[in-house]
Amino acid sequence: MKKNKSSGGSDELSGSYYDDERDDIDYENRIVATEYTPEDADIDNSLRPKQLSEYIGQKKAKEYLKICIDAAKLRGETLDHVLLYGPPGLGKTTLSNIIAHEMGVNIRVTSGPAIEKQGDLVAILTNLSDRDVLFIDEIHRLPRHIEEILYPAMEDKRIDIIIGKGPSAQSIHLPLPNFTLVGATTRAGQLSTPLRDRFGILLRLELYTVDELAEIVRRSASIIGVEIDYDASLELASRSRGTPRVANRLLRRIRDFAQVRGNGKIDLAITTDALNMLEIDELGLDNIDRLMLETIINFYEGGPVGLETLSATVGEEAVTLEDVYEPYLMQIGFLARTPRGRCVTRLAYEHLNLPYHAPDKNNGAQLDIFSQSLDSGKTDVDTDGDNKK
Ligand SMILES: Nc1ncnc2c1ncn2[C@@H]1O[C@H](COP(=O)(O)OP(=O)(O)O)[C@@H](O)[C@H]1O
Ligand SMILES: [Mg+2]
Repeated sequence: MKKNKSSGGSDELSGSYYDDERDDIDYENRIVATEYTPEDADIDNSLRPKQLSEYIGQKKAKEYLKICIDAAKLRGETLDHVLLYGPPGLGKTTLSNIIAHEMGVNIRVTSGPAIEKQGDLVAILTNLSDRDVLFIDEIHRLPRHIEEILYPAMEDKRIDIIIGKGPSAQSIHLPLPNFTLVGATTRAGQLSTPLRDRFGILLRLELYTVDELAEIVRRSASIIGVEIDYDASLELASRSRGTPRVANRLLRRIRDFAQVRGNGKIDLAITTDALNMLEIDELGLDNIDRLMLETIINFYEGGPVGLETLSATVGEEAVTLEDVYEPYLMQIGFLARTPRGRCVTRLAYEHLNLPYHAPDKNNGAQLDIFSQSLDSGKTDVDTDGDNKK
């Protein structure tokens, strides 16, 4: 039995796929999972670029960040607070380390769920040294009453705490050193407006192109000391769902395959054989993606179907579907989010080799979405509310 804790809708803070004690076995074993799994620990760290110049892709975010960093350095100031947002595995943690490195300062790392009491955050803040970067991962999971401590800390470099209750209550102000808060989140829409407004630099990370991922794969291969053909790097990249973490994980699996079945070198044939064996198709879809698309097609005539209904039918949490599965399916134009629910597009039917039945004539919303999703892979509808386009 799988957990489905997120029936409360998208504003639910707990119960996301970050929970340690998950019992959804399928998900943990999913090789194309974009979120962090324990087996990534060593490889994630050794493959992380340390400098901005080594960070591949994300041209827009990188250029803007470079200007901000150079300007702060010129003025001898600390960098403004940075919010990094985007799906898992795109390089948010990596970028936070790069920011500290480029600014020549130390980084302190914590995460939203790790901070349980106001006192925890006060302790972290008061222990910062001048100019430190404080990285708060999954910042959307900070409880509101703790988040409030951050407002004066970010704005005026001070902490306001109230000690005692009733008439004898005393408010105390503690000064803080200059610091840069770097927050990372997969769900910018869940941040409160006061918190979001206090970040001066907002960087949205996008899924990577195949060429960018292929470059990442070749860089990673040279670091782990395995030879890879150019064609093979492109093939691997095109099956990595736009996500460096997936690309690096697949690379490691294919390296094993190449050592056992071949001479250790990764060529195109070994790559396709290994990926086929892992049941990852030419577009990087695995069984769970296919199940999700087929469920919408078989049970809901291609949609629209509500996220919660879909979540109950495929047995995966709604937040997981939304954060982990949908971004890629939307990017490749297989799935569209509409105000009335999720719809599968013609492209997805074709990919799955299923006969396409034209959407109901009365179903205008669905027809619209088909044309939109074919042009851009995305719709205008942004159900997670962060107004990105
Ligand atoms: N732009 C990039 N260039 C090279 N490697 C990257 C890039 N972005 C991410 N990676 C690799 O992908 C892995 C996951 O990145 P990470 O920063 O942990 O993602 P996130 O924190 O967004 O989930 C890291 O091991 C890193 O090596
Ligand atoms: Mg991370």
